[in-house]
Amino acid sequence: VNTRTPLIAGNWKMNLDHLQAIAFVQKLAWTLKDAGHKYTDVEVSVFPPFTDIRSVQNLVEADKLELAYGAQDVSMHDSGAYTGEIPGGFLNALGCSYVIIGHSERRQYHGENDEIVGNKVKAALKHGVVPVLCVGETEAELEEFGPSAVPVAQLKKALEGVSQDAAIVIAYEPVWAIGTGKVATEEQAEAVCAAIRVALGEVLGDAAAQRTRILYGGSVKANNIAGFMRQPNIDGALVGGASLDVAEFSSIARFQK
Ligand code: G3P
Repeated sequence: VNTRTPLIAGNWKMNLDHLQAIAFVQKLAWTLKDAGHKYTDVEVSVFPPFTDIRSVQNLVEADKLELAYGAQDVSMHDSGAYTGEIPGGFLNALGCSYVIIGHSERRQYHGENDEIVGNKVKAALKHGVVPVLCVGETEAELEEFGPSAVPVAQLKKALEGVSQDAAIVIAYEPVWAIGTGKVATEEQAEAVCAAIRVALGEVLGDAAAQRTRILYGGSVKANNIAGFMRQPNIDGALVGGASLDVAEFSSIARFQK
């Protein structure tokens, strides 16, 4: 039996300043509440820029909002002379449940390789923040190696040395489907997520593979979420562009299979 609670996660990327973040979160919480949304049925999470996290925390705590939040990156170091870096301990202190690690934009523009990504996964775990580990292939890699080879290899490398009990989330984001409007078919996404689950079993054991949520990301919208959520190995979505619109994002969270 699948006991994994679906997770709908909104990656704001470098959008929404602190005032916009406050307005957004208030409106999102009210929209979901009005719609009778049950957080225990579908967990909703936002990933604001670092500079918004404190504001989001204040709102969530003051109004007891049923909303999780996290950061878009974390340092692999704990503290010290690392200008511009933010360690996992600070994220934990700000109430972050999650942190996105290894997003393709960080791999592409900030030179993050599998080793760095793996170190960040371990840093997040060490500080009690759940890593949302992103894996995915580019269009050229898809043509050269087929659909699951690259994401599975990235996953295995990033999870080296991670304990079987670790709470983690995986996000499969085909790079060719990010912000392009080119969406993977449900069958394509399911096939890779199923392969990822098999790989999780090999690396962390069957119990972890069954318990771990695997999200699909790449041009998810209110009008295509249901098809993904009907797939047995897809447990939610990591949403970019469509997470910046309260009506659209709350409809995604309110998907009907
Ligand atoms: O992390 C989410 C993301 O990369 C997908 O972006 O805009 O295609 O939903 P988008």
